[in-house]
Amino acid sequence: MTQATRIASHFQQFFGRPPTVIARAPGRVEFIGNHTDYNGGSVLGAGIDRHVWVAVSRGLPGQFRFCSDQQSEVQSLPAGTSVKQTGALSWLNYPLGVWLGLEKFGLPQPADFDLLVYSDLPAGAGLSSSAALELATGLAFLKLAGAETISPQTLAELGRHAENNFVGVPCGVLDQGTIAFARRDHLVHIDCSGPVFSATPMPAGLRLWVFNSLTKHALIDGMYAQRHAECQQAAQALGVNLLATLTPAEFHARRAALPEVLAKRAEHIIEEHARVGKVVCALAAGNSAEVGSLLTASHRSSQHLFGNSTPELDFLVDRLTAIPGVLGARLTGGGFGGAVLALTGTEFNDAAAQAVARAYTEKFGRAPGILPLQVADGAQLLTS
Ligand code: GLA
Repeated sequence: MTQATRIASHFQQFFGRPPTVIARAPGRVEFIGNHTDYNGGSVLGAGIDRHVWVAVSRGLPGQFRFCSDQQSEVQSLPAGTSVKQTGALSWLNYPLGVWLGLEKFGLPQPADFDLLVYSDLPAGAGLSSSAALELATGLAFLKLAGAETISPQTLAELGRHAENNFVGVPCGVLDQGTIAFARRDHLVHIDCSGPVFSATPMPAGLRLWVFNSLTKHALIDGMYAQRHAECQQAAQALGVNLLATLTPAEFHARRAALPEVLAKRAEHIIEEHARVGKVVCALAAGNSAEVGSLLTASHRSSQHLFGNSTPELDFLVDRLTAIPGVLGARLTGGGFGGAVLALTGTEFNDAAAQAVARAYTEKFGRAPGILPLQVADGAQLLTS
């Protein structure tokens, strides 16, 4: 049975008829470029072979109905509602935000719908399950409303609009852009000053692993917004709109004028943007060892300058980088919990990953999640 058949059968159980459209979007890893996106810098991301599926059909007049593989009940809201949901219903804000955004983008909206979400992507791991849900929903709604195909850039903008304006997280374009443009065996490069999207081949013989710390800071959205505000304050104090417009040399000449906390935040962003450029060059030159050490340097910068790591993430990076088959490791995504990405050669295997997991369990009293990953294609419709 294919995943789409399984999802169609779940949909039938909940709503009494099959879905009209099924769309799927991958999670993403941030390969490098930590918090550079909303500072006008560059990032490299990749789609991963863990997904969120959204199945929809037209529903009952005047109603939006939702369910997921995590819930046994259908939730119903008045069609067209713009009331933000809270508590256990917070996840409805992603499809609602996308539905509301369609009008802003001049795109058609289905007047009512039944929607099922199905996922094998861990939530809260920094792998962008929310952006995957937004993009799969966007594709599904547009198809349901009879729209022509949408460009990946508009799809990314629609998802980010929902996240910024309805969900209320001031994120950059990394998550939605990577998921919209993801391509098998390629990294997505985003020059966020455009944004301009391009694909960079992932060299053969490299592997990606994710170690999920299974911790998440309770105030994660607030901490993200705080870092965002600190970056803006630093940019203002340095007389620029976006931190990444300064070169490291220009910044270091002016660093002393900033209060220490803002100086550390700005140094992270400006050096990290430069590191992304160095990784692009190292990838093109086939210098995997250099790519790996730049990834680890990125983590150390998050840890010591940007202040968005945790003891759990640091422990995983320390352990992983001590293993010869590991080229580099770093926190991936917003930070304050979530996961570590490890770039390895083919000799790093499940037994080596389990040894890291055992050490982690001994120290923190719980096992981390381990995901060996393939680099996957981006958001797409599965039914035509
Ligand atoms: C989260 C945000 C992204 C980006 C990363 C950090 O994933 O959604 O826009 O800022 O954090 O690089």
